[in-house]
Amino acid sequence: MLIKKAADIPSSEITPQSAYLNRRTFMRGAAAMGILGLGGDGISKLVAPRRTVAADSKLTTVPSPLSDKGETVTPFQDVTSYNNFYEFGVEKGDPLHNAWRMKTRPWTVTVDGLVKAKKTAGIDDLLKYRPLEERIYRHRCVEAWSMVIPWVGYSLSEFINWAEPLPSAKYIQFLTLEDTKTMPGLYQINLNWPYSEGLRMDEAMHPLALLTFGMYGQVLPNQDGAPVRVVVPWKYGFKSAKSIVHVRFTAKQPHTAWNDEAPQEYGFYSNVNPDVDRTPWSQKTERRIGLPFWKATQPSQMFNGYGDQVAQLYAGMDLKKFF
Ligand code: MTE
Repeated sequence: MLIKKAADIPSSEITPQSAYLNRRTFMRGAAAMGILGLGGDGISKLVAPRRTVAADSKLTTVPSPLSDKGETVTPFQDVTSYNNFYEFGVEKGDPLHNAWRMKTRPWTVTVDGLVKAKKTAGIDDLLKYRPLEERIYRHRCVEAWSMVIPWVGYSLSEFINWAEPLPSAKYIQFLTLEDTKTMPGLYQINLNWPYSEGLRMDEAMHPLALLTFGMYGQVLPNQDGAPVRVVVPWKYGFKSAKSIVHVRFTAKQPHTAWNDEAPQEYGFYSNVNPDVDRTPWSQKTERRIGLPFWKATQPSQMFNGYGDQVAQLYAGMDLKKFF
């Protein structure tokens, strides 16, 4: 996600992300990564990408009535090679090439803020906490591309009930891994790290919001947010924080990474809305990855097509103001 702002660079010469690069930080970071022997993007692309899904990574799932029906599922290969995971680089292929370095075991998720008591859960306990469902959802990025993905997880509400937030908690914040040893992107893009996202409590408690451990019947590949991420299918993809390590319950709206970066473009709500075009991309249509070009462009739908289920969460709100 990226914002084209560098007035001095002709648009033909930039990838959108490059406008965000803080070159001095990048150079410092590149030198540091070299010293650590981690290599830059160019070097990592010379070696074959490592397998990120082990042979024993299958998950047992039950189907879910909340799955979309009649959508063509995007090929696994596209979903694992065209990613936004800026901790691993700014280009779409960078997460595939770099994220294998992230260690996903041991892994804990700490819960604090407005809760009965601070808690920490091991990832394997979380994974076993509730039956895992397969949920096929449309996945819509603010960059106006989309996919259809069979995620694996259980409703985020189950986790929230386990976390026991106090009645004073009005928001939930997700903070994700920030590991300078394995994440070259931390030096390449000036986001307010660690990546932070948030939801209003009633949004987070909605049954469609998914605490996600896998996809295509297997554990999540690292580049897709292993070992645990959220998926909020009626919102733009950037609301779906990957590789979560910390969940905080708050009374006030938490800060979020993209809103910090460009508040005029990325609102806190970020519901898919074809009528609000604040980003460089028109939201009226989207390009479905994996479909032949003559079928790929489709009209975008309000709330990504989940309006029947979620529109009541926003009753009475001006969605052009609260975008
Ligand atoms: N989570 C973290 N930790 N870091 C990120 O850079 N990118 C977000 C979101 N979650 C991001 C993240 C954005 S911009 C999008 S569109 C989705 O992840 C992309 O998810 P996908 O790569 O599985 O399609």
